[in-house]
Amino acid sequence: MAARIAVIGAGAFGEMHLRAFSQMQRDGRAELVGVADLDEALLARRAEQYGVKAFTSYQQMIEETRPDGISIATPDHLHREIALQCLSAGIHVLVEKPLDVSTEGCQEMIAAAESGGLLLQVDFHKRYDPYHRELHDMAASGCFGEILYGYAYMEDRIEVPRDWLRKWAAQTTPAWFLGVHLFDLIRWIAGSDAQSVSATGVKKKLVSLGIDTYDAIQAKVMLRSGASFSTDVSWVLPEGHEGVVNQGIRVTGTDGMMEVDTQDRGARCCLRKPTDGRPQVGSGMQTPNLGFFRESRDKLGRPRYSGYGIESIQDFAENVSHLIAGGSLNDLRNTYASGRDGLEASRIAVAVHRSMEAGGALVDVSRTL
Ligand SMILES: NC(=O)c1ccc[n+]([C@@H]2O[C@H](COP(=O)([O-])OP(=O)(O)OC[C@H]3O[C@@H](n4cnc5c(N)ncnc54)[C@H](O)[C@@H]3O)[C@@H](O)[C@H]2O)c1
Repeated sequence: MAARIAVIGAGAFGEMHLRAFSQMQRDGRAELVGVADLDEALLARRAEQYGVKAFTSYQQMIEETRPDGISIATPDHLHREIALQCLSAGIHVLVEKPLDVSTEGCQEMIAAAESGGLLLQVDFHKRYDPYHRELHDMAASGCFGEILYGYAYMEDRIEVPRDWLRKWAAQTTPAWFLGVHLFDLIRWIAGSDAQSVSATGVKKKLVSLGIDTYDAIQAKVMLRSGASFSTDVSWVLPEGHEGVVNQGIRVTGTDGMMEVDTQDRGARCCLRKPTDGRPQVGSGMQTPNLGFFRESRDKLGRPRYSGYGIESIQDFAENVSHLIAGGSLNDLRNTYASGRDGLEASRIAVAVHRSMEAGGALVDVSRTL
């Protein structure tokens, strides 16, 4: 039985959700029943491109289309209320990361999902990157021995906060927008929740552009297992950088180590803009991350979307299909990033902000509830 899915928020990343589900619809694996956004012009473009019914009110969309599952790709600080309304309507929910920018919000969503017996999934797509899966699986099979320490970084080019998120960049930070990806990844690979955090942040470049948020945040995350990870997140890389995201991770244990450059995966290019409407590659020398997202054409010339950015969203529709066919949430346990995983990543982010406000002091993550 194919799940009927709707999307709320059709902006830059909401389009990935539309690509993911429209692909599944073509393959007969899901039905894309509606998209909601407040921006009428954007909504009209997306509705036409993805052949989906458009709504300016998500409440109306829920009433009219009665979807089995809804994915939410609104700005970080707007997830909570929308998710709670969807859950109270008895609908399974996928929320873009971060689940919420408060631990209370995450807990409210988890409670609502649990009381309704509903799926609450978080789009932590880094778990679907085959290199990260390998790190996770090697760690789970003991190939590192005991994990001792690691380092992870994620840096966006400056156009992300300055242009793409210009309406709400000042309402978030690199720890919420990027850091939660790493906090979830570290917990998942090391198989341990966080114990404490110390962090520092700097505000210079974006403030000079009139956007009051951090440029960069460095956090050390100590896990209950005794391992510790250093993380760097920032979103002020110069426009000339070869990728819109620069990222990598390394993990060292008592008996093994692994490091992955998840930005430069071996392909380098310097190309003219595509003329067939496909997303444009950047100018100058580029190292595209084709593992994250790739658009190609099938034999009939229709778009085909692939990559772990697409698969992690599609996993939600697969899970909903499983549930409406009579499967249980228990069958799916530990196969996806759950509401609890979203909460644990948000707890680390809350601790990071508290530590920065206290000049880098050590903050106990258990006190963030
Ligand atoms: N997984 C990832 O790699 C990734 C990457 C980028 C963004 N994101 C996340 O995706 C979410 C959206 O980010 P974005 O970059 O697409 O932002 P965006 O600003 O481009 O899009 C957000 C959209 O939500 C719409 N919206 C706001 N309130 C709404 C409401 N009440 N009803 C319907 N629509 C509403 C806005 O009109 C806008 O079009 C954020 O949580 C962000 O952190 C995830």
